[in-house]
Amino acid sequence: MDPRLAEILAEVKARRGRVLALTGAGISAESGIPTFRGKEGFWVVGSRNYMPQEMATLEMFERNPAEVWRWYLYRFGVCLRAEPNEGHRALVALDRALGERFHLVTQNIDGLHLRAGASRERTYCIHGDAAYVRCADECTLDLVAMPDMGVRDGETPFTAADRRTLSCPRCGGWLRPHVLWFDEYYDEHWYKMQSALRAADRADLVLVVGTSGATNLPSQIGDIAWRRAIAMVDVNPEDNPFAARARSMARGFAARGSASEQLPAIVSALC
Ligand code: APR
Repeated sequence: MDPRLAEILAEVKARRGRVLALTGAGISAESGIPTFRGKEGFWVVGSRNYMPQEMATLEMFERNPAEVWRWYLYRFGVCLRAEPNEGHRALVALDRALGERFHLVTQNIDGLHLRAGASRERTYCIHGDAAYVRCADECTLDLVAMPDMGVRDGETPFTAADRRTLSCPRCGGWLRPHVLWFDEYYDEHWYKMQSALRAADRADLVLVVGTSGATNLPSQIGDIAWRRAIAMVDVNPEDNPFAARARSMARGFAARGSASEQLPAIVSALC
């Protein structure tokens, strides 16, 4: 490990510091889930009929819920087939070792952190979770478990039986995926916004893994880390705004490499 990185981590460990891990699609890339903005990314390849970023909007869901669901059922199938990797497992080890001093803010809806064993109370799924659906009309503010609809490919048609399965058990209207769309806002009830910001306000180290820094709440967490001049480590095989920011900080470090290569050593240095 680079001596500067070892020094930063040793200092956090010595003061029994609080760690906030912030993850993006890159940590699940080695589990075979495409990222969003990479070469084979979901936002690059997408659906036959629509631009991928159009699919992830409330506006499109209101216009054509069956087409939006068809695309999500394909994406959710990719998540269901995937297994957690060394990167997810390393963060679980950190969660267990640090307990209340650890929080995980993830942009991933794939559920792999939780399936690897991350604690539910300390994991904030700020872009939602493919394991749940909810009433699109908000007749209730409760989540419903995602029904098992099998693994589908991008061409599988959406049927009348699918429509029945995706009906709200209370009001009969559409259920929607529990995901944050591009034309929606972060909040606390569904997406744990304030909890994530509070964890950033109290952290001694922000450990950023596998995100391109394109979304708002993660950028705010980077801003908080910078303003508070805490330690910040970015793990990513490519340059990105968090790496640039980390390099500009006194206790910042950009660790070039994949999550599964970098995280096990980083986590053992912190435990
Ligand atoms: N290990 C670590 N990082 C990796 C790996 C890997 N094995 N492979 C790729 N990466 C990095 C890429 O270099 C890139 O910086 O992961 C990042 C993936 O970036 P995006 O595809 O933009 O994914 P993400 O940052 O999670 O996107 C954020 O945008 O549209 C939304 O809701 C969607 O949650 C998503 C959000």
